[in-house]
Amino acid sequence: MKLTDVVSLSVVAVAIHASTFEPTDFNVTEALIDSGVNVSAIPELAGLVERSSIGACSIACNVLKLTFGADSVLSEGSSAYDSFTGAYWAAQQANVNPFCVFKPSSATQVSAAVLLSRLTQCPFAVKGGGHAAFAGGSSIEGGITIALEKLNEVTLSSNKKIAAVGPGNRWIRVYETLEQDGLAVIGGRVATVGVSGLTLGGGISHFANAYGWACDNVESYEVVTASGVIVTANVTAFPDLYSALRGGGNNFGIVTKFNMRTFALGPMWGGPRVYLPSEWDQVYTVYAKIARNAAQDTKQAQIVSFALQNGIQLAAADLEYSEPTPWPAIFADWKAIPAAQDLTAITNLTTVTRNLGAGIPEGIQETYWDYTYKLDRDLMKFSIDTFFGLMPAIADAPDLLPVLSFQAITVPAMEKMQQNGGNALGLDPKDGPVYICNLAIMWTNAADNDRIHKFSNTLYQRINAEAAKKGLTNDYIYMNYASPWQDVISSYGAANKQRLKKIAAVYDPTAVFQRLQPGYFKLEGAPYGPFPA
Ligand SMILES: Cc1cc2nc3c(=O)[nH]c(=O)nc-3n(C[C@H](O)[C@H](O)[C@H](O)COP(=O)(O)OP(=O)(O)OC[C@H]3O[C@@H](n4cnc5c(N)ncnc54)[C@H](O)[C@@H]3O)c2cc1C
Ligand SMILES: *[C@@H]1O[C@H](CO)[C@@H](O)[C@H](O)[C@H]1NC(C)=O
Ligand SMILES: *[C@@H]1O[C@H](CO)[C@@H](O)[C@H](O)[C@H]1NC(C)=O
Ligand SMILES: *[C@@H]1O[C@H](CO)[C@@H](O)[C@H](O)[C@H]1NC(C)=O
Ligand SMILES: *[C@@H]1O[C@H](CO)[C@@H](O)[C@H](O)[C@H]1NC(C)=O
Repeated sequence: MKLTDVVSLSVVAVAIHASTFEPTDFNVTEALIDSGVNVSAIPELAGLVERSSIGACSIACNVLKLTFGADSVLSEGSSAYDSFTGAYWAAQQANVNPFCVFKPSSATQVSAAVLLSRLTQCPFAVKGGGHAAFAGGSSIEGGITIALEKLNEVTLSSNKKIAAVGPGNRWIRVYETLEQDGLAVIGGRVATVGVSGLTLGGGISHFANAYGWACDNVESYEVVTASGVIVTANVTAFPDLYSALRGGGNNFGIVTKFNMRTFALGPMWGGPRVYLPSEWDQVYTVYAKIARNAAQDTKQAQIVSFALQNGIQLAAADLEYSEPTPWPAIFADWKAIPAAQDLTAITNLTTVTRNLGAGIPEGIQETYWDYTYKLDRDLMKFSIDTFFGLMPAIADAPDLLPVLSFQAITVPAMEKMQQNGGNALGLDPKDGPVYICNLAIMWTNAADNDRIHKFSNTLYQRINAEAAKKGLTNDYIYMNYASPWQDVISSYGAANKQRLKKIAAVYDPTAVFQRLQPGYFKLEGAPYGPFPA
């Protein structure tokens, strides 16, 4: 999206809702004083009153530089800027060029950036770990990319029950720090993935069956709201905002601290076990059976992924168990299927986290998609047959690595999602178990992007049609694996979407996080709109 599009979008009338959180006569200029920016002392800013100008982003970036120091702002043309943009996980995001990159070192500085964006109407994006798989997810062409990397604390409370985790962290650093106390938090499975994007969209860990998702284990969020006010939301203070942040993504504010509940974790057992196509009929059956019987032992987690790697079709079951028990009884059926390779072992969370990330290339072309279905082994088989059946259309793309994986959302996990007032996702244990069918493809040549996106869309059209025929559909789309053509918030259900919009109207009555932060999954639709026909 170009800056001019964003500006014209902001001209479209946005209903201003009555709000007690932000008064209708809220004065951005006055609020900026509290964030350390005195507008009347800066000649370029003095004439601006919440309106855009040609130099909006130039002005906003200069003010950030003047106020918070040149060290905290990267500008186009510098090598620091190039190495920053080059470090995104997906090549599509590395090709986005913000006007500047701002690296705040406090929540107050984050407030200043939000208010300056309001004053100048320069749009912004927020970067946590930078793993969004499409352009504009966590960077913005011509705007301000607010990079949270300096907000990287990992601090235990005195009773060690809560870890205060800064939004600039990657999971490996969090786990390494907490491991020293024999503790962990509910978070991501791959070392370099960011804490904040993963937690704001939901967050699937190895411990979901026992604890729910990452967002369900955040005790409270420190969040910068649209008016620059910093609040701590928990189940009793700003409870509506708290529930919206549990899966609502970047629509409600910028989180500057996640206070996460810890749990005791020592050595565990797990790893991948690889199966060849001759065994796949059993693989579908066993996966579905264990997911359905998850309540029998919630210490287990299983993902099964099917891939075409160097021309060979493989299935890898990643099996994890939160005790150091080799082959726990619940996994007996997996053990009975002959494996081409087995790397399961007694291990620990930091090692598992490093291993799962190892060898995944960074900085190449990526696409992620997902839909959710009622658990059914025949639909899994149909999906894999269709996946490999359509593959010839893209198989010659250089360095292609297509993966289709299944991750169940079990009934015990859904029950845990209801703790502390429930999350934003709209998943009901009565509809479970369901599973996420997640497509992830990587390749190197941008000329292949269109046909790979078409392949992805066609694959899901076929699976969705089959699911509909068999009564196996489920509306939910997991934000963290969704493509930019998928309307994630609508997938949470009409009533839930209405509720989220009402909460946004209270904390962000002028829709700052919709208009001025246009990237990612908005309350009113997919970042790129529907997939082009
Ligand atoms: C290799 C790999 C492994 C993965 N493994 C898992 C897994 O085990 N479990 C799982 O559930 N998902 C997993 N995912 C998906 C992952 O959750 C998403 O990619 C997620 O968006 C990553 O977060 P991030 O902070 O790195 O990304 P970013 O691109 O930085 O952020 C994603 C979105 O969140 C917004 N955002 C980031 N920080 C904040 C903040 N503090 N306040 C407000 N908005 C913010 C950004 O603006 C952006 O829109 C994986 C993805 C990859 C690529
Ligand atoms: C906001 O406050 C500033 C400083 O007090 C004042 O100059 C300006 O007129 C106010 N703006 C509005 C829209 O009231
Ligand atoms: C802001 O700057 C103006 C002009 O330099 C000055 O008169 C005023 O006292 C400053 N206000 C604050 C709160 O520092
Ligand atoms: C929520 O936060 C408020 C304010 O910080 C605090 O007083 C209250 O005890 C918290 N609620 C819970 C359930 O922890
Ligand atoms: C986890 O395993 C790694 C690799 O074996 C080891 O270096 C590390 O010390 C282990 N951590 C703990 C807390 O034992």
